[in-house]
Amino acid sequence: MTEPMSVSFPPAFVWGAATSAYQIEGAAAEDGRTPSIWDTFSHTPGRTAGGDHGDVAIDHYHRYRDDVAMMAELGLASYRFSVSWSRVQPTGRGPAVQRGLDFYRRLVDELLSHGIKPALTLYHWDLPQELEDAGGWPERETAYRFAEYAALLGQALGDRVEQWITLNEPWCSAFLGYCSGVHAPGRTDPEASLRAAHHLNLAHGLGTTALRATLPAGASVAVSLNSQVIRPLSQDPADLEAAQRIDDLANGVFHGPILHGAYPETLIKATRSVTDWAFVQQGDLVLTHQPLDALGLNYYTPALVSAAENAPSGPLADNHGSGARAPWPGADDVTFHQPPGERTSMGWAVDPTGLHDLVMRYTREAPGLPLYITENGAAYDDEPDAEGRVHDPERIAYLHGHLTALRRAVDDGAEVRGYYLWSLMDNFEWAYGYEKRFGAVHVDYETLARTPKSSAHWYSRVARTGTLPP
Ligand code: NOJ
Repeated sequence: MTEPMSVSFPPAFVWGAATSAYQIEGAAAEDGRTPSIWDTFSHTPGRTAGGDHGDVAIDHYHRYRDDVAMMAELGLASYRFSVSWSRVQPTGRGPAVQRGLDFYRRLVDELLSHGIKPALTLYHWDLPQELEDAGGWPERETAYRFAEYAALLGQALGDRVEQWITLNEPWCSAFLGYCSGVHAPGRTDPEASLRAAHHLNLAHGLGTTALRATLPAGASVAVSLNSQVIRPLSQDPADLEAAQRIDDLANGVFHGPILHGAYPETLIKATRSVTDWAFVQQGDLVLTHQPLDALGLNYYTPALVSAAENAPSGPLADNHGSGARAPWPGADDVTFHQPPGERTSMGWAVDPTGLHDLVMRYTREAPGLPLYITENGAAYDDEPDAEGRVHDPERIAYLHGHLTALRRAVDDGAEVRGYYLWSLMDNFEWAYGYEKRFGAVHVDYETLARTPKSSAHWYSRVARTGTLPP
């Protein structure tokens, strides 16, 4: 019998954890911050589970020092966080608010003093409400506002932050925000969602250019895509076509303009009944196609699709809304199926091979571009035992499986430079509120006490040794 082997990563591999501003900060009305679309949305009855919102969240705004100390104890090499746009530029225009910027300066300095590299995401879904009132992402102007905001941040923090990410998961901003409406601002307008997608691509391009003008040489600019792994239910041509259509709407709509300077022809054709794409102006696809230093990939679970006419009577997946409220413009005749196997408490299938496939796809799609897994993780219903300890063996198994698959991708030639666990701590899981716990660190929502779960201890060993235990 052969002994189980431990799996090692290259010595320079970066081990991190990720969060986002609205999900953890709280202090919603402090130091000049104004509402973002997520404040408005979460305070609208019926939009989030239990009416949960981020007014206090896990109070990271006041507890960041302790949180950074905890990261250091866990041995993290890097921490990915996002900036709340309406904290630093409350109306989404004009000069920055110093008190808002100061918070991020203090946070970054605290990280650096513990030897933890900050990775800063500019936009993790919390558009200043004033910009939404002016039309939001379906309006071109929002992309220019984003570029101005990127420049402000670049000027303020470029001396101490090396790793920059323009947008987090623009698919969610465009299609959950403006098509299925399950995310802020909660609109259900397919044509507006495609406009939003284009203006997010433009924002990424203009923002990258604005950052380059302010950041010192050596800084890295990336984008984090929730590039989705779309699998056809069968090899039937109708199922393959359905999978292609969803792949265009999930992936090509962003990586096309960002990595290749073009929207896929098949996307334009398949969405013709929704839009004529006249909002794409001459020269836009040059602006969106900026050289990048890295690509961030967020992965949780694959999707399994068929043509509606081929749908057998197996379990269907909801995929963030259905019918008129599905997030897939022009694809009403595609059915989402529940992939087989184990699920997390989100109902998402656990499938590490999807991570391998995703990384290999982008290795082909963007040869030579360094890749980072900027999010990967799972929600489980973790509660403390009688001694106050939180055991989460399922999360350890999930992480172990996904990291093993990732290592396999490295063996297969992928340039993966780092991995950020989602999430460092339990937090506000958007429309699901606080019920879904993604953290490696448990948060007691009464006392806000933080308790590292067994997965945090496990991950800490992985981060310190660069090796997965057998
Ligand atoms: C992706 C998002 O970026 C993050 O905010 C969210 O909490 C996780 N996925 C889990 O759903």
